[in-house]
Amino acid sequence: MDHFHYRDRVLTCENVPVRALAEAYGTPLYVYSTATLLHHLTQIQKAFADVPLLICYSIKVNGNLHICRLMAEHGAGFDVTSGGELYRALKAGGRGDKIVFAGVGKTEAEQREALEQNVFLFNVESEDELHALADVAKSVGVAAPVALRVNPDLPPKTHVKTDTSVKGVKFGLDIETILDVARGVVGKPHVKVIGLHMHLGSPILSTQPYRDGAAKGLVLIEKLRQQGHPISVLNMGGGFGINYRKNEAQPASAFAAEIVPVVKTANCKLVLEPGRFIVGNAGMLLSRVLYTKETGGKRYIIQDAAMNDLIRPTLYDSFHRIWPAEPAPGLPAPPEDYEADIAGTARHDVVGPVCESGDFLAKDRRLPPLKRGDLLATFSAGAYGMSMASNYNSRPRAAEVLVDGETHRLIRRRETYDDLIRPEIEV
Ligand code: LLP
Repeated sequence: MDHFHYRDRVLTCENVPVRALAEAYGTPLYVYSTATLLHHLTQIQKAFADVPLLICYSIKVNGNLHICRLMAEHGAGFDVTSGGELYRALKAGGRGDKIVFAGVGKTEAEQREALEQNVFLFNVESEDELHALADVAKSVGVAAPVALRVNPDLPPKTHVKTDTSVKGVKFGLDIETILDVARGVVGKPHVKVIGLHMHLGSPILSTQPYRDGAAKGLVLIEKLRQQGHPISVLNMGGGFGINYRKNEAQPASAFAAEIVPVVKTANCKLVLEPGRFIVGNAGMLLSRVLYTKETGGKRYIIQDAAMNDLIRPTLYDSFHRIWPAEPAPGLPAPPEDYEADIAGTARHDVVGPVCESGDFLAKDRRLPPLKRGDLLATFSAGAYGMSMASNYNSRPRAAEVLVDGETHRLIRRRETYDDLIRPEIEV
């Protein structure tokens, strides 16, 4: 579900034609829909309402302060993975007691900052980290609240670069040795092991991994309790998939059907760290066609968004629906299936201005003939789009705009050339 709709062949975000946004703010432009964001947050809140719940929006997915503020205002906490993300969460109105801190490489300074903010949980990923955290907590004069992150060693479930719960990745404690690690800190005054954490991977389109992960988690929780750790939190991480192509995603209720019964049996509070599910379909990347050309027997659409704006296709070969913002009469608005043989279209590579052959938004994509100045919409770009954007090729990063009904406001201005060199020492 999202609020990007074609009305009379004109793409609108909620009640605003995206052409007006391109004219007001320029392109490339990230456009977000408030109603879509809140819809997805609410879906999770409702689906998991039967158990004590803390939703920690995963800030790495899209950290814009305005989006984070919306999350905080609607009851979410934050999942952070660095001191910078902690800073961002607090600036957006996040409260320490609703923040969980994950990541394999927290520095001592970051641990201290998080302890000073009384974060709800540290998701601890190694024995070394656990002992380092205890030392920092001792120096601060507190006990650090900890959830041990387990790698439950499940079969592959998503792209190799984003699968976090198979053998051989850097994340978490091995399921075979986690109990030994836990035994080593029983009764230690400066760490309180009160939770179990897992993050299975991203994006996950099946509920099965959650069923298997939760089942393994339940066994571990019992064993941790037997060791004397007062486990009261199960953190199942994020990972819920979204519709990038058609209707491949599961509703939040399907994931809840697997997770909620286990949380009840374990008598725990549930923490979730969703990101993509909330913001993925709530954002699109709007770009303008610069040129078209045919070369080497291929057709190219060269438009002004590039891999520095949206790196997912380059990095993960990921699929984003792409269609003109104002398709000509006779063309579907929009196609039901973007991978079908659509009449009036031909295969194109959609590429950007960056000097790499890997700079593309889509390959061999069925699109109608386009011309200079046409607006192109790349959908489901709200997650890991702007947050992974860079200045590669000294390209100023795109602007971001948030739509709410008939209104829209700039939530990040377009970078300038001066922004590009500002942190560099003057020559
Ligand atoms: N919790 C932890 C510990 C994570 O590592 C992640 C994502 C999340 C939560 C949020 O997962 P989500 O609900 O968004 O699926 N850049 C890649 C995805 C990387 C995922 C990193 N971790 C992409 O664009 O597909």
